[in-house]
Amino acid sequence: MSDMLNGQKRDIMCGLVNESMIGETVIVMGWTAKRRDFGSLIFVDLRDKTGIVQVVFDSSLTEDFAKAEKIRNEYVLAISGKIRKRSEDTINEKLSTGTIEIEAKSLKILSEAETTPFAIEENSKVNEVVRLKYRYLDLRRPDIQKNLIMRSKISKIARDYLDENGFMEIETPFLGKSTPEGARDYLVPSRIHKGSFYALPQSPQLFKQLLMISGFDKYYQIAKCFRDEDLRANRQPEFTQIDLEMSFVDKEESVMSLNEGLIVRLFKECLNMDINAPFKRLKYEEAMNRFGSDKPDTRFGLEITDISDIAEKCDFKVFNDAVKKGGSVRMINAKGFWRKILSRRDVDALTDFVKTYKAKGLAWIAMDEVDGVKSVITKFLSEDQTNEILKRANAETGDIIFFAADTNDIVFATLGALRLHLGEMGNLIDKSRYDILWVTDFPLFEYDETEKRYVALHHPFTSPKDEDLELFETDPLKMHAKAYDLVINGEEAGGGSIRIYNNKIQERMFKTLGFSEQDIKDRFGFFVDAFKYGTPPHGGLAFGLDRLTMLFTGAESIKDVIAFPKVQNASCLMSEAPTPVEIKQLNELSIKVDEEEDI
Ligand code: AMO
Ligand code: AMP
Repeated sequence: MSDMLNGQKRDIMCGLVNESMIGETVIVMGWTAKRRDFGSLIFVDLRDKTGIVQVVFDSSLTEDFAKAEKIRNEYVLAISGKIRKRSEDTINEKLSTGTIEIEAKSLKILSEAETTPFAIEENSKVNEVVRLKYRYLDLRRPDIQKNLIMRSKISKIARDYLDENGFMEIETPFLGKSTPEGARDYLVPSRIHKGSFYALPQSPQLFKQLLMISGFDKYYQIAKCFRDEDLRANRQPEFTQIDLEMSFVDKEESVMSLNEGLIVRLFKECLNMDINAPFKRLKYEEAMNRFGSDKPDTRFGLEITDISDIAEKCDFKVFNDAVKKGGSVRMINAKGFWRKILSRRDVDALTDFVKTYKAKGLAWIAMDEVDGVKSVITKFLSEDQTNEILKRANAETGDIIFFAADTNDIVFATLGALRLHLGEMGNLIDKSRYDILWVTDFPLFEYDETEKRYVALHHPFTSPKDEDLELFETDPLKMHAKAYDLVINGEEAGGGSIRIYNNKIQERMFKTLGFSEQDIKDRFGFFVDAFKYGTPPHGGLAFGLDRLTMLFTGAESIKDVIAFPKVQNASCLMSEAPTPVEIKQLNELSIKVDEEEDI
């Protein structure tokens, strides 16, 4: 049977024991990370979330030596002992406690442990499926614990900063109303209102705006958000925002500068790095034209150049067709890549790579040291046109220039992704640098070809730029939004906007989105009504807490910064959620499940 704790308390956490405490007798508690048995000497590495301390059981000094012989990995122990200096030859430089050890006097085995399905160690190579099935064990690993400690620190700093700046934390409901736009909702059936559903919030957007109308002035919340979308390395179906909203602001700068203060503070306190505000600002259009992305990584070059004017006049059908149809032809010069980084085979592989982005091909011109200009497309171009392109690309021997010709969307997606890929291949990205910038002046709308209507690029409550108001009824695609995204190392870390606070403008917005009077009433009635009773100008932003934590820890997967994440198919490997429920539960909800597959 295990020993009892009997109210005994720890004096210090394992990783915090240090040289200044030599000679003191302390009680430590934790898990057995490692045990080495040398007959009359047993060494135990005792672990908790702060680190590891070495404990020595010496048969001549310990009253509980027989018990110590029973210790196995992951046993939970309480040890009382004296802190002593290690001999020079046993110092472990890798441990923060590596110069000292605890000479055990007494031992309590608080809990025994079966052999764990995998070893609890840093940078585990064990298959993720196994680790996530036993996530509570996986979470004992020091690297994951560090990530979650960082996450907690980020939340704490954000809370402190926002509190100091007059923000108050207000919770908003999880059980809300399904509203159109945005991602797919997670729905929760109502037992009382049969056939009706709540939706879990995709963000607290509507509520935080209502709180401004209620006069709370400055709100924040560390808010869980739910979106039923396909998972990626940086996306989870439930994730967390540091969400905020403030009143009496009508310019983007007001919200941006407040948030810069928070980011500066986070970098200082989490990474001890001084970064300068204001951050770089890049207009959406410039970001797309230069980097093919609205979340550009600007730590390296390989910028995009437009050659539509030349392409339009050339005989290469792929090129001139693209321009004639309203698209464009653009290029990237991979400077010095030809033969050094990219072989002919690699270039073919890149053609396959860009297919993911719907590119129909990837034309290229290589500047070969021996053969000169090498390409299958130059035969379709006049010498002048080729020269003009090469000049514009600043082409030199050893370069290879890639071209995408298509609709602007496809060209940007293709070259934006190709640029990042080439940047990785050429090792051009300085990973030690943090690249922080705002992308501003987003379009207000984009056109959805499948739905055949305009949709809001951010959300329908984002204010248009004042000077664009008259375009609502004439040319919505030319309108710009008072919206901003914070981009760090090519990741969207946060985004927000100044909101519409005039219900006439909100109505024009809804109309442009194709909502009838009835739609507006049904879907956003309460929201539109609220705006009639005195609305302050307001705006806000939400950071992705998970993404910030990834950036600050260097984690490559969002799963590594979430205690209990979901996997690709949105299930939890540990609890096995989602699961079928009992018929009785379904009956209560008046729900029938169609058992047939592939309906
Ligand atoms: P947005 O939809 O841009 O804005 O979300 C804000 C930030 O949340 C993070 N994020 C995600 N993180 C992990 N998994 C996801 N599936 C996911 N989706 C988004 C991103 C993103 O920048 N209500 C507005 C904010 C506002 O206008 O104030 C909103 O939700 O880091
Ligand atoms: P083709 O004439 O179709 O054989 O194409 C000649 C070259 O142009 C090949 O290298 C193709 O990969 C490339 N190409 C074809 N379509 C496109 C496109 N839409 N954008 C860029 N390059 C293309």
